[in-house]
Amino acid sequence: MTTRCYKKTMGPTSVQNILLDINIILDCYDAERLKRFPSSKPAFNLATQSASYRPFISSSSLDNLEFLKSRAFKQSYPQATAAERQQLTLFFIKDVLNQVALAKTPAYLEIDDNDIEDSLIIASAKAIDAKVITRDAGMLDQYPEIALTADRFIQSHQKQPTQVPFLDLKAATQELTAEIEQATDRVLNSGWYILGEEVERFEADFAAYCQAAHGVGVASGLDALQLALRACDIGPGDEVIVPSHTFIATWLAVSQVGATPVPVEPIEATYNIDPARIEAAITPRTRAILPVHLYGQPADLDPILAIARRHGLKVIEDAAQAHGARYKGQRIGAHGDAVAWSFYPGKNLGAFGDGGAVTTNNADLAERLRLLRNYGSREKYVNQAQGCNSRLDPLQAAFLGVKLRHLDAWNDRRRALAEAYLQGLADSPLTLPVVPEWAEPVWHLFVIRHPQRDALQRQLTEAGIGSLIHYPIPPHRQPCYADAGYDDGRYPIATRMAGEVLSLPMGPQLTREQAADVISGIRKT
Ligand SMILES: Cc1ncc(COP(=O)(O)O)c(C=O)c1O
Repeated sequence: MTTRCYKKTMGPTSVQNILLDINIILDCYDAERLKRFPSSKPAFNLATQSASYRPFISSSSLDNLEFLKSRAFKQSYPQATAAERQQLTLFFIKDVLNQVALAKTPAYLEIDDNDIEDSLIIASAKAIDAKVITRDAGMLDQYPEIALTADRFIQSHQKQPTQVPFLDLKAATQELTAEIEQATDRVLNSGWYILGEEVERFEADFAAYCQAAHGVGVASGLDALQLALRACDIGPGDEVIVPSHTFIATWLAVSQVGATPVPVEPIEATYNIDPARIEAAITPRTRAILPVHLYGQPADLDPILAIARRHGLKVIEDAAQAHGARYKGQRIGAHGDAVAWSFYPGKNLGAFGDGGAVTTNNADLAERLRLLRNYGSREKYVNQAQGCNSRLDPLQAAFLGVKLRHLDAWNDRRRALAEAYLQGLADSPLTLPVVPEWAEPVWHLFVIRHPQRDALQRQLTEAGIGSLIHYPIPPHRQPCYADAGYDDGRYPIATRMAGEVLSLPMGPQLTREQAADVISGIRKT
């Protein structure tokens, strides 16, 4: 599991950061300059208006921009007072900053003795992995791998072939550059690097977002599941009902507390555990049901909760893929006894590393989780339980806090893309995901089915369109469960799905144009 590597599967980044040198910006605001340098305007427009680019200006250039524009105003309007010129300059700067974001000037500069200003701009560009568009001959000469002319920028844009990455994590990070920088500085300057205020604030905010009373940050989604099971006193000799079609972590958590995963087949149309099949799997040893809100679509919780009540079972939800999803209008987060979350980077709410959480309405359970994640200790050097070290890092909590503010907007973007796919592929040979009327999914993944899935995936790859399989081998067929005695013939739906499912590109940074490319790519196959 830890070998999943986005770099390999993502393909090229779809959005490129562009740092505009101030000579290009000044050209665009001055008719005389533009006559001499006409390429500056189309380059500026391309950088600021195309979904393929994100435009920046180096923070180190701002005062120079102000100085040069103020001087230009003095020449154009010699009768204007200093205050009027100042006002005009301010309007100009604000107008520029409405179109381009500020890029930091980092502390790890390499100062070029010949041109300090250029080295500041290049350092800014490196910090955000941007190309610089400039007319400065010295910069073009000295930094050919980073700096390019307006003309070359326009030409390189025209040459780019269609590429649709499966997921663009770098673009997601770059969209939040300033907020992430602020969060990083805050945590590093706090001097507090384990648990503490930062983690507590995120736990409270995330729990509130999930409509749950308590949130407990842990080190990963797998740990969230394991600790939730342990906090419910589930262990050796117990059985836990799990979906036959899910990511392996759902099963591993059960196995790792010493209990036995008992698989139940999914409803094909929604991919989620079929409540109608659960009761047949219950034995005297069953202690809990562990539904997964797979691909961001809520499982049908009411019948599951009713079965659990009838049989005195706990319900522990695996919501690793469902941040923000709603079941019958209520956010996933506290329907069951405990809800486990993953903040793996590719999730709808993803950290810059591993992270996880458990949400619950049960104060005692939350307290037990806090104990278990921290060596079983509430008071330093007093250990009530044989706990583990599974704490959410303050730095990750701060990043997650930033991303939480954008989660609804980013989920809306996923929804719009899913809508486009559902409409654009409605009459194609693909089997599309079905959304029950009580479900508000958040489209962590957009998963289609096709009997010739592998051929379809090959053709999409050749067309420059990324895709992944979630998941190619069902848990009961994994080598790690080879000795567990699962009867392959009892899980035909999970087995068939593993051979047919294909996840199309999906993510908040995927553009509508790219979704249209995916649709036409599929239609051509
Ligand atoms: C359904 C499901 N459950 C559990 C997990 C485990 O989360 P993590 O990778 O944070 O341990 C994942 C994440 O990949 C998942 O998709």
